[in-house]
Amino acid sequence: MSFQPDHYITEDIKAIPPSGIRKFFDLCANSKDIISLGVGEPDFVSPWTIREACVYSLEKGYTMYTSNYGMLELRQEIVRYLYERFGLCYDENKEVIVTVGASEAIDMALRTLINPGDEVLIPEPCYVSYQACTLMSHGKPVMIPTTAEKSFKLTPADIEAKITPKSKVLMLSFPNNPTGAVLTEDELLALAEVVKKHDLIVISDEIYSELTYEQEPVSFASLPDMKERTILVSGLSKAFAMTGWRVGYIACDAEFIQAMVKIHQYTILCAPIMGQMAAIEAFRNGIKEVVRMRTEYDHRRRYIVKKAKDIGLDMVTPEGAFYAFPSIEKFGMDCETFATRLLQEKRVAVVPGNAFGKSGEGFIRCSYATSMKQIEEAFHRIDQFING
Ligand SMILES: Cc1ncc(COP(=O)(O)O)c(C=O)c1O
Repeated sequence: MSFQPDHYITEDIKAIPPSGIRKFFDLCANSKDIISLGVGEPDFVSPWTIREACVYSLEKGYTMYTSNYGMLELRQEIVRYLYERFGLCYDENKEVIVTVGASEAIDMALRTLINPGDEVLIPEPCYVSYQACTLMSHGKPVMIPTTAEKSFKLTPADIEAKITPKSKVLMLSFPNNPTGAVLTEDELLALAEVVKKHDLIVISDEIYSELTYEQEPVSFASLPDMKERTILVSGLSKAFAMTGWRVGYIACDAEFIQAMVKIHQYTILCAPIMGQMAAIEAFRNGIKEVVRMRTEYDHRRRYIVKKAKDIGLDMVTPEGAFYAFPSIEKFGMDCETFATRLLQEKRVAVVPGNAFGKSGEGFIRCSYATSMKQIEEAFHRIDQFING
C-alpha cells in the first residue's frame, strides 16, 4: 500500500478549515497589476529608530535565548505603557509574558483555559484564529453574530442569548478586525456586568487599541473588577508597524501566567531576542511614530467613508483598526462572487466577508493599510464595477 500522509493526520486538524483569507489570496498570487485592499498589515516599514536598535543589538552580539517570560527591560516597558495609556497596574515580574505575536498569546490563553467541551463565546465577524484555536484546544466555539444595523457592536443581550452552563470564555476584539467597530466605555461596562453575572473569563485582544479615531481607547481590564477576569492580549504588529518582528504580550493575573508559561517554555522557549530588542526601543521612542501612522490611517479612513457614500456603497463608519466593511448585498451577488469578479474584472483585491464567519456574508473587507494613491484608484475601479 502506498504511503498516505492523510492516514496519520488527526481528525481534529483535518476538521479545521483553512483560512478564508489565504484561500482567496492564493487565487490572486500570480496575477499582476492588482491593487490590493486585502492585506491586514501596515503598509509602513517599521520606523528606523526601531530597526536601528535591532541592528545595533546584533552588532553587540545579542543573539541568545532570553527568559521564558521575555526580557525584563521589555516587560518593564510594557508595564509602563499599560499604566500610562490605560491606568493599568501589572507586576513585570509575575503578570506579564512576552509572546510570539498576539497570535501565540491567543492560542496559549485558550489552551490554558479550555477543558474539552468548554464553550468559548466569540463575537462575529471576527479575526480568523479565534475559532480555529478554540477547536485546537478541544473547546466549542459559540459564535455570536453582530450586525451592521447595530454597527457591529456586541451587546449584553447578544451574550445572554448564547450563555449555557458550559460557557467559560468570552473573546473580545475591539477595535475589530474586520468591521472596524469600537465599543465605548459605557458599552464595555455593560458587557462587564454580564461577564460577572455568568462568571466568565475574558480574553481581550487589544492589538488595535492604538488605532481608534473617534475616541480614546479603553482597555477591558481597566473596568471595575475586570482586571482579575481579563487575559489582556496585545502586541506591536499593528500600532508600530512591526508584523514581521513577531512580538506580542499577555498581561494578567500571576496564576494564569504561571500556567501559560508551561506551554510557552516547552513549545516556544522565548520570543526572538531581536524582536524584543526592537520592541524595547519601540516603547521608549516609537510612540510619536504611532501617532504619525494613526493620523495617516485616519486620513484614508475619512476618504473611504466619503467615497463609499458618493458611489452608493453602504457602510457602517469604521472607528478603529484599518478596515472598512461595506455591504455588497444590494448588488445581488454573494461576497465571494463579488470579490472574485472585482478581482478578475477590475484587478482590485478585497477579502470576502465570510472569511470572518457566517455573519460576514454580504460584506467585503477593504483594508486601508495601503497608500492613498492606491486607495483612490481602487475606489475608482470599485465605482466602475458597481455603477458601470
Ligand atoms: C484581531 C487580531 N488579533 C491578532 C492578530 C495577530 O497579530 P500578531 O501579528 O501580533 O500575531 C491579528 C492580525 O491580523 C488581528 O487582526
